[in-house]
Order: sequence, then structure tokens, then C-alpha cells
Amino acid sequence: MKDYTKYLKWPQTNYNDIICLLDAYRHAYWSWHGIYEQKFLKEFCKYTNAKYGIMTTSGTAAIEASLAAINIKEGDEVIVPAITWITTATIVSHMGAIPVIVDVDKDTLCISPKAIEQAINRKTKAIIIVHIYSSVCEIDKIVKIAKENNISIIEDCAQAHGAKYKGNHVGTFGDIGIFSFQQSKLITAGEGGICITNNLELAKRIEKYTHVGDFFEKDCEILENNLKCKKYVLTEFQSAILYSQLMRFTNELNLRAKNAEIIKDILQDVDAISIQNKGENTTTQTFYILPLLLNFQFLKPLINRNIIIDSLRENGIPVGIGIGTTIYNHRLWNIEKTKYVKKEIIYADDIAKNRLISIFHPLLLMKEHNVREMANTIKKIILSFSK
Ligand SMILES: Cc1ncc(COP(=O)(O)O)c(C=O)c1O
Repeated sequence: MKDYTKYLKWPQTNYNDIICLLDAYRHAYWSWHGIYEQKFLKEFCKYTNAKYGIMTTSGTAAIEASLAAINIKEGDEVIVPAITWITTATIVSHMGAIPVIVDVDKDTLCISPKAIEQAINRKTKAIIIVHIYSSVCEIDKIVKIAKENNISIIEDCAQAHGAKYKGNHVGTFGDIGIFSFQQSKLITAGEGGICITNNLELAKRIEKYTHVGDFFEKDCEILENNLKCKKYVLTEFQSAILYSQLMRFTNELNLRAKNAEIIKDILQDVDAISIQNKGENTTTQTFYILPLLLNFQFLKPLINRNIIIDSLRENGIPVGIGIGTTIYNHRLWNIEKTKYVKKEIIYADDIAKNRLISIFHPLLLMKEHNVREMANTIKKIILSFSK
């Protein structure tokens, strides 16, 4: 039996990381707005085609800064999807606003435009759309809804570095896009985040919020707009690593996509499995995870996800369950019932709790023969549980 666990190692490092780190160490300016931060920002903005980028300490801090920038106030409602990392929603609550949790599309697992439309009311101020796992939200529909209702869009791209919709990078369709550089992410410095935007006013407000005040302008507007400024800045060591990783990111992206296609191809005639739909207009997928969805009508009675996962793991395949739960059922969810709204959820719980099996992205960087072998083993195991 082959053990694929060793291929889970992430991040993968290389010599260029050391060169960049040593360089940052030697030039001895280690704080914010240093040489590597500027270099990374320039390259990341070029890569995403965004006008402005502001580094933050985490993806969560980037969402917080975005909410502050669009002037979210106590009692405002912010629509969020039921499947995401909890802080997409908890940070809304920490800002005094009300997260309104809506269902996801059953095939893409991204926030459902129909559910957004049904959740909008006078208090709705923003929507946080999350490009989850290896899919992209239905951006055109959501932008139309937001425009018609005068609502801001924050794109949570924490799992979607490199993802494109109609040829354009995610994070540039809404008012602000945020990314995370936390340990598991496709580009990582252990921790870190960024906001990107094409709106100068929003960029200035995010910069002020995350960088203890004013940096774009000499005259400080802090008191005028009552922005409570924080210090959510990165060190040069983080930026040096991010810069080095961005240089090799496209190669990794292409390899993951190629290997994901091989897996999809091998599993395509297995009725008991569907693969997350990438979304109609998604032109580049990034495969933070490759999600397999179990179809119970094709599985033998009494077979459940745990049984299948145990069997896959016993056969050396280290699969996971993605985030594993809807946000309001997460063990760390501690928002009082009166402080959030949960709309009708038809699909999200079943998908998160029962159906999703995940292949983590480092496994998609394996050599082709390993990928084929792994996919064939998955196929054999799933077929052994099928009717
Ligand atoms: C979808 C999503 N949103 C937000 C975040 C928060 O990012 P961070 O952990 O950098 O705060 C994450 C990361 O775990 C995420 O996966």
C-alpha cells in the first residue's frame, strides 16, 4: 500500500525563499512598507490587475478593514454564506453588525444568488461572497443584485488565489477583495492577508484602518470619519516569503489544474461521486482543495462518509472533510442567537456534514504517476461501497 501522507507537506520551500529572507534580514528594515512589501504589493496587484493593495496581518483582519472602509455600522446586516471559515461571519458580528447567513448553491457550494436576493432588506449593507474550495461565485448575477439594491460587495478570496471569472482575477469584481496568507493557503507566509481594490477612497480608508492612521495623505481624516485605526501590519520576513512564492505560483497553479483534471477524468464514471462544479464562468480554477461530493443514492445502504473516509485513509490517502460544517454549527461559533440571522438552509448542512470529501492542494503537486495511482485507488474504494 502506498502512503500519500508524506506529500501533504505544505508549504513547500525552495532556495529562492532563503535568498529573499536573507536579503530582507540583511537590509535590516524589518517593519511595514519595506522593500519586499512594496515588491510583493506591486507584483500581486499586477497579477490580479487591481489598482491598490494593502497588506494586513490576516484574511480576517482584511475583512474587518474592508467592513470598516465601507462604513459598516451597528445593526447593519451583512449577508454571508453558510459554508465558509467562521471568521467571514464572526468578524461581521464583532463590528457590531448582523451576519445574515444564507444557503449555498448545491453544485458550486458558493453563496446562492437567489438566497442573497431573498435575504435583502432595508438594513442590508453588504454581501461577503466567498469563492470556496475550487469554485467561483456567480459574480455577474451578484453584482447586478448588489447594484440594484445599492449594496457593497466584499469578495472573500482567502481560498482563491489565482481564480479567474471570465478571464479576470477574483477580488476585482466587488468593492474590495480579500486574500489570506495563512499556513494552509495557496500562497502563505504562515500568516498574513491583503485587501485589493480599484477604489482609491476605499484603499485610503483600509490603509488608515490597518496602519494606525494616515499614510496616503498628510492631512489626517481619522477624527472626521471616526475610523478606529488598528495596527494590522506585516513584517518584511513575511513579505519576502510571499514575494518568493508568488514568483513560482503560476507553475504550481498549472500543475494543480493538470493533476485535478486527471483525477476528475478517472472518477468521471463513478456515479457515487460528483466533483464540485467550478461555476459556469470560471475560467481558472485554483484547487485550494478538490472537493468530492458523495451521492448516496448510488451507495450501498448504511454507508456513510466516515466509513468511506476511514477506508481511504487506511489505504494511505489522507483525505479531509473541508471546513466540515456550516458556520453556525462550528464548535467555535459563539455568536448569540439574537445577534445573527439564519435564513432557510436546504443544501449547506447536508453537503458540509455528510457529503464532502476533500483532497488538499499539496497532493495535486505530486508526480503524475502518483496522482493516477491515488485516483485509481479512490475509484476502487468508492466502487466497493457502491450499489
Ligand atoms: C474562506 C476564508 N475566509 C477567511 C479566512 C480567514 O483568513 P485568516 O485565517 O488569514 O484570518 C479563511 C482562512 O482560514 C478562509 O478560508
